[in-house]
Amino acid sequence: MTGTGEQAGTGADDGALSRRVLGQVAGPDPRTNEIVAALVRHLHAFVAEIRPTEREWAAGLDFLVRTGRLCTAERDEFILLSDMLGLTTAVDDVNHAGPAGMTPSSVEGPFHSPAPPRAPGDWISAGPERERGVATVVHGRVLDCDGTPLPGATVDLWQADDAGRYDTQDREQPAGNLRGLFTTDAAGRYWFRTVRPASYPVPTDGTAGELLRAIGRHPMRPAHLHYRVTAAGYRPLTTHVFLAGDPYLDSDAAYAVKDELVRAPVPRPKGDERWGMPGPHEEIEFDVRLVPLGWTPDGEGRPRPGAGR
Ligand SMILES: [Fe+2]
Repeated sequence: MTGTGEQAGTGADDGALSRRVLGQVAGPDPRTNEIVAALVRHLHAFVAEIRPTEREWAAGLDFLVRTGRLCTAERDEFILLSDMLGLTTAVDDVNHAGPAGMTPSSVEGPFHSPAPPRAPGDWISAGPERERGVATVVHGRVLDCDGTPLPGATVDLWQADDAGRYDTQDREQPAGNLRGLFTTDAAGRYWFRTVRPASYPVPTDGTAGELLRAIGRHPMRPAHLHYRVTAAGYRPLTTHVFLAGDPYLDSDAAYAVKDELVRAPVPRPKGDERWGMPGPHEEIEFDVRLVPLGWTPDGEGRPRPGAGR
């Protein structure tokens, strides 16, 4: 492109317009002003860089309108779009600093829904996948970063089946399938039985799918289980466990994989009475280490019993 941008009639923005808009940002809340001002600066810079045609700009606005219209109680296309652009992970990264040893957080994704309370060891798999899938026992502890067990912690678990589908996407699965709310015992332990989840494509029939196709990006997420763990006096943690060996670990469509969250399922060719597994199965162990509320980078944070969850 040629031209200095200083000549009258070129249509180039010398910044006067964005300064005029910024001059109108003067609401009662300083943080809101800061956020809106940054948005204005970046959006004006975006327009100055790409110089969209009016047709392109209208197509962009239409894309956002159609994204909103796709959202329902069971589907959030904006979350999916945020995930596909790496923005959810970027926001996660700036909000979850913590001490050495903590379990890293990872994106929630669009498929969380209320889970039925379960007893220790329950099967969470009650659909047709129970016959098809690889029987798997998942167990571990919820701990402070210093290793102290946390009894009474809540583990909210959700996963896809052996075909990569959630109950909310699949009429063959009963409601609440492959979901569970568990409470840790006196030693901070939790455990349950399930089937090994499969990798899956994110929904591609909406605007997020349009974007992926447009940029030549595959829609696959590596096989995983989702966790949301809460305990009194600790920072709630939303994270994943990823299964080692999955071909999409290095190219997760949601950019959510962290090395500390990858576990190798251990094949157990024989039954094991301890886990109520009569035949061959796999075993996954995953401990979760939570960060005390009030933790600061200088390491002064400690648990505050009875503090908010
Ligand atoms: Fe998922």
